[in-house]
Amino acid sequence: MEERQPRHASEAGQAPEGSLAHRFQRGFLAGKRLSDFPWEDLEEILKNSKDSSPLLTILQKTVFHPMCLKYPPSVKYRRCFLSELIKKHESTGAEPLDQLYEALGDVLNSEETTHCYKNYLLPSGDAVTLCETVAIISQGTTGLVTWDAGLYLAEWALENTAVFCNRSVLELGSGIGLTGIAICKACHPRAYTFSDHHECVLQQLSANIRLNGLFLQPEVCGHSTAEHAACKAELARSQGPNIIVAELDWNLVTRERLMELQADIVIAADVVYDPELTQSLIGAVQKLFSCSSDGKAPEVYIAFAIRNPDTYCGFQAELDKVGIRWEVVPNPRKHLFPYDRRANITILRLLV
Ligand SMILES: C[S@@+](CC[C@H](N)C(=O)[O-])C[C@H]1O[C@@H](n2cnc3c(N)ncnc32)[C@H](O)[C@@H]1O
Repeated sequence: MEERQPRHASEAGQAPEGSLAHRFQRGFLAGKRLSDFPWEDLEEILKNSKDSSPLLTILQKTVFHPMCLKYPPSVKYRRCFLSELIKKHESTGAEPLDQLYEALGDVLNSEETTHCYKNYLLPSGDAVTLCETVAIISQGTTGLVTWDAGLYLAEWALENTAVFCNRSVLELGSGIGLTGIAICKACHPRAYTFSDHHECVLQQLSANIRLNGLFLQPEVCGHSTAEHAACKAELARSQGPNIIVAELDWNLVTRERLMELQADIVIAADVVYDPELTQSLIGAVQKLFSCSSDGKAPEVYIAFAIRNPDTYCGFQAELDKVGIRWEVVPNPRKHLFPYDRRANITILRLLV
């Protein structure tokens, strides 16, 4: 469901066209589902407008936006978006608008690719840009696209920055990095370890971290003193958190390995979608709880998209069996990222 309140400081006090164009911009750059755009509001504005300026503003803020020109959504997405704009324009009985047809012509001349970009605008005005696959499942993994629970967890993190500020965070099943990159950009963690078990996911994740201007430490840094010093200097210059990407399989990870990572906070999004994963994830969480330093166990937060209530309840039952307590964390209040608002998503905090 589209929220009609302004969601961004710069939106408040704007004329309806400006605010609508802003909503189109946020949604388009992030690849929001086309059916979830505020088409009816656009139709209303076009009906009452003397010229095509509202559409031209939307074009400038979407298809011609510098971020889209540099990091475009998929060809199919841009084609469908422009076709919809053309339909809305022509339904008003207006003359065809050259700029719309030229933009569509350019897209029709572009080749479809297996990868595309999504740009998620943060409240600071900065963006998280991700390269992801067009197909939901590719290379045998679900990890090469961003999932709704990952967006939801990022939204929650941005409202709860104190949980992450100056802490060492470990993310399990990071996928291509949306949640962690947003946290690194907006929540000031001291250190952030992204992790996953799939080789292609780890490669795309590392590329995305660099694409966002974050300094990624080589996991084993410095074969020589000079390299080590250069690495430290680069990290100091970056002024960001100490970021690493770790290959970490919940089935294989040892307690010693988890001890090395010294996490204060552990997070994961959309990592429980079949019963086998439930067992291995809970095994990893048990190890994490057993390796608390100074008697303090890490805080663990898991975001779920509840597609099948049996899987969700099964996860809770397994937690109960091994004596891990859990509580539901309050929802984020503001809608920052475009995920399906009808989806049933929740965050559990796990406690020893
Ligand atoms: C549905 S994706 C979610 C990705 C990301 N967290 C998000 O919300 O967009 C699940 C992720 O868990 C990872 N995963 C699955 N089984 C795993 C395991 N045994 N060990 C580590 N990661 C695993 C996958 O590689 C994939 O990246």
